[in-house]
Amino acid sequence: MGVEIKVDGLTKSFGKQVIWRDVSLTVPAGEICVMLGPSGTGKSVFLKALIGLLKPETGSIVIEGTDIATCSEKDLYEIRKLFGVLFQDGAMFGSMNLYDNVAFPLREHTRKSESEIRDIVMEKMDLVGLIGAEDKLPGEISGGMRKRAGLARALVLDPEIVLFDEPDSGLDPVRTAFLNQLIVDLNAQIDATFLIVTHDINTARTVPDNIGLLYHKHLAMFGPREMLLSSEEPVVRQFLNAQRVGPIGMSEEKDAGELAAEAGQELPPLPPIPLQLEPSNGIPRRSQREPGSWLREHGLTAPPGSFESQSAALAR
Ligand SMILES: Nc1ncnc2c1ncn2[C@@H]1O[C@H](COP(=O)(O)OP(=O)(O)OP(=O)(O)O)[C@@H](O)[C@H]1O
Ligand SMILES: [Mg+2]
Repeated sequence: MGVEIKVDGLTKSFGKQVIWRDVSLTVPAGEICVMLGPSGTGKSVFLKALIGLLKPETGSIVIEGTDIATCSEKDLYEIRKLFGVLFQDGAMFGSMNLYDNVAFPLREHTRKSESEIRDIVMEKMDLVGLIGAEDKLPGEISGGMRKRAGLARALVLDPEIVLFDEPDSGLDPVRTAFLNQLIVDLNAQIDATFLIVTHDINTARTVPDNIGLLYHKHLAMFGPREMLLSSEEPVVRQFLNAQRVGPIGMSEEKDAGELAAEAGQELPPLPPIPLQLEPSNGIPRRSQREPGSWLREHGLTAPPGSFESQSAALAR
């Protein structure tokens, strides 16, 4: 079913440099969350804190009753078994073929026989569409295939939580679309909780149930996809619509002069909220959330032309 991650009042610094402070959010069990933010705002640091690789100074990260931020090494070791992580570069061993790369966590962390390992590896290779490529070395395949191999490896221990650090970086738009569909399909199939760090606005707009935005050393907003996509909050609006007008500048925040020059500039209207990607045919839809439910609960109507407004019209 996946497990919930409850983060409360989390602060992380390196020496005197505060990365983010007072981050609180709940990643609901079985749902997909996307974490956004300009480069250097500490998204990767956040993922590392969640798996206990970096210790925050204050706050808690509670998973199945254990606080990752303060628990013993022994408890941490147990909790880590719940996680599958897809690192930014796939983190494949260059001298091992894909089969051995994917089998690695099983050989390292379990006492399974080679024939049991074969069954699991082939099942995961099949899930990510890599059957036939078992003997290839990571250097011989495309970036998209390497990502999928990394994903297969992240799945072999049947994780309850999967963390993705920029799964779509370096992929062309078509490969990104395939990968996003794969992520949505996997989420429906394995029912784990997914947290994805990405810079891809299209991914953020169509894949997750919830979106978070890290900005200027804090969590600017976290909530349902529809809430952030319809938000007028300047930073959220600027980031999710990839606009130059707004508080975020080229290097860091814009200064007062730059902001004053922008004041009064007319912003284009918010585009319609796009359809959330559904699992492919034959894969059952998840039960967590009805499309458009957040808008209805908040007494809002979806912008004309959006999936939510179309399905509402059909239901009438
Ligand atoms: N182990 C570390 N020791 C000291 N500083 C670190 C460490 N890891 C990260 N940082 C600093 O923390 C800040 C945030 O880094 P992080 O890699 O999390 O950013 P990011 O949001 O993932 O950026 P990008 O989008 O470019 O991947 C950076 O200033 C980085 O230099
Ligand atoms: Mg990063």
